[in-house]
Amino acid sequence: MGTHTGPILEGRGDSDYERYVRVPELLELQKPVAELAHPEERLFQTTHQAAELWLHHVDYEIGRAIELIAADDVALAAELLDRCARIINLLRQQIVILETMAPADYHVIRTSSLGRGSGQESPGFAKLLDVGKRVWPVFEAVLGRRSLTVIEIERKPREHAEMFRLVQAMLDYDEAFLNWRYSHMRLAFRVIGSKVMSLKNVPAAQLEQGTREPLFPELWETISTLTGEFKPSY
Ligand code: HEM
Repeated sequence: MGTHTGPILEGRGDSDYERYVRVPELLELQKPVAELAHPEERLFQTTHQAAELWLHHVDYEIGRAIELIAADDVALAAELLDRCARIINLLRQQIVILETMAPADYHVIRTSSLGRGSGQESPGFAKLLDVGKRVWPVFEAVLGRRSLTVIEIERKPREHAEMFRLVQAMLDYDEAFLNWRYSHMRLAFRVIGSKVMSLKNVPAAQLEQGTREPLFPELWETISTLTGEFKPSY
């Protein structure tokens, strides 16, 4: 009895919940209401702060997945990649929330609060652009250890069930990332249009390029190869 009488952890806040989650420190990272350039700015800042936390977390899980593939624990690596794909899907849904912001309100925020800032400078995003380059070498190494090629896995998915699951998880992640980039592009077009130069002097339309750059092009190629083996054309 009486175990719920008071906090026992160190830190700020009246409860162990607040001390563990570090709620006071976290909320201090938001611009106070009185300093917002526009009431809609809170949503804009919250969305970006939450995105950075999740991007940082995905980078952490990708690092774990890479170690697992290197250690031949392919099944667990696939589970972590699946988790990462789910997080990226969550980020995509966050993007859609911002579409409820009126373009005119965004221009107030952009001109008064953002300085020269741009999403291109997001450190979390920059790291995730390298996921293909980071995962591919350990993936090739596990293929080598098992004397397998991707096309062999695709031809006999049941026979190579564990490796097929890993390939599927890599494709799931890749597709989630592309979908996120696509939804972000639609958000940018919706809020500022496709014609303006961005804060970094890049036309917003250039975002389209990113929606065509898969992280694991070789996997997508192999699917085309398999189709070719079954039937030369559709
Ligand atoms: C009103 C909302 C938004 C608008 C109008 C917008 C607009 C843009 C534009 C025009 C670019 C092209 C490059 C540049 O401007 O420097 C860009 C890049 C980027 N933005 Fe946003 N963005 C918005 C929200 C977000 C959110 C919520 C995120 C979440 C993290 C985000 C992350 C990024 C990233 C990572 C890039 C670089 C993308 C790439 O290089 O492919 N943006 N954004």
